[in-house]
Amino acid sequence: MEKKDLDWGSLGFDYIKADYRFAAAWTDGKWSDGELLKDEYIKIHEGSPALHYAQQCFEGLKAQTAKDGSVLLFRPELNAERMYMTAERLMMPPVPIDLFMKGVEEAVRANYAWIPPFGSGASLYIRPLLIGVGENMGLKPAKQYNFRVIVSPVGPYYKGGGVQLISLAVTDFDRAAPMGTGKFKAGANYAGGLLSTQTAKDMGANEALYLDSAHRKYLDEAGSANILLAMTNNRFVTPKSAAILPSVTRRSIMTIAKEELKMTIEERPVALREELAEIEEMAACGTAAVISPVGKINVDNQWHKFYADGEQVGPVMQKLYDSLTQLQKGEKADPYGWVKKVNLD
Ligand code: PLP
Ligand code: COI
Repeated sequence: MEKKDLDWGSLGFDYIKADYRFAAAWTDGKWSDGELLKDEYIKIHEGSPALHYAQQCFEGLKAQTAKDGSVLLFRPELNAERMYMTAERLMMPPVPIDLFMKGVEEAVRANYAWIPPFGSGASLYIRPLLIGVGENMGLKPAKQYNFRVIVSPVGPYYKGGGVQLISLAVTDFDRAAPMGTGKFKAGANYAGGLLSTQTAKDMGANEALYLDSAHRKYLDEAGSANILLAMTNNRFVTPKSAAILPSVTRRSIMTIAKEELKMTIEERPVALREELAEIEEMAACGTAAVISPVGKINVDNQWHKFYADGEQVGPVMQKLYDSLTQLQKGEKADPYGWVKKVNLD
């Protein structure tokens, strides 16, 4: 099948309407088999709990084209599991793992023409979502649910592309409470973060950086990504917190840092101000962000710069970026069994 005539190399992170989306519905206590639709609009009841009480969640993963033309997903079962846990936290019927995988694979296969080719630097972003629908007014879970998988070809999340240095700023806003919904991929977490992101941008940063809301002392994460730290004495450190999203990318990078870079791995609370001097390199990581090295952060209204005065990507983050992206594109052997080939027939 022919590919669409897009300028793949100049794509940003935007919605581009692909031909098909996968949709399944939960009614009378069970899930439908699901089907591919052409219509990008969803007609739902005006009383839907997704609209009033944010009974909604989503996922994000990518499909990439390998050199031999095969299409690869990266650890999609972890996204399926995370959406399952998020649904339970929000009192929604979890999407069965098989249905999630089927929705993702069918949406990718049906939109083959929209999957960026190998070497273009772009990928197909896959966005599964689950919403509570149907007539309702009081604060209670919906009686019906829609599961949908949409896709869009995307380029880099942050402007510039490739391994791009970004900056982060700590604002006065919190993202998530320790026993709240921070570790789940609930859309409501992101609505609350919009003003924080805008404030960070007004401070000259790309994105907000959050401290834990209980003490405002320990590093949590960025608005759309987890945080990675290369610290003195060959330590690779990631913040441990009950309020951050368990990033698939971060968990994978921790393994790569241990196995390939032979670094000492620490997943623990990081007291940002006290440990700042020991941080040599910082990066934000996620499906959209990939590994975005952080040149500088603003804490207490002061800028703090990392490797090479915040002007260059450090060697640790560069190696991790190369290793992760090569794995995801099938450019090197996958000893971990993380890459899943999509059946294109
Ligand atoms: N943290 C937040 C708040 C996110 O939105 C994302 C993106 O999914 C991540 C972290 C990174 O998670 P993952 O690597 O699973 O995409
Ligand atoms: C992702 O990385 O998949 C996300 O969901 C982040 C989003 C804010 C674009």
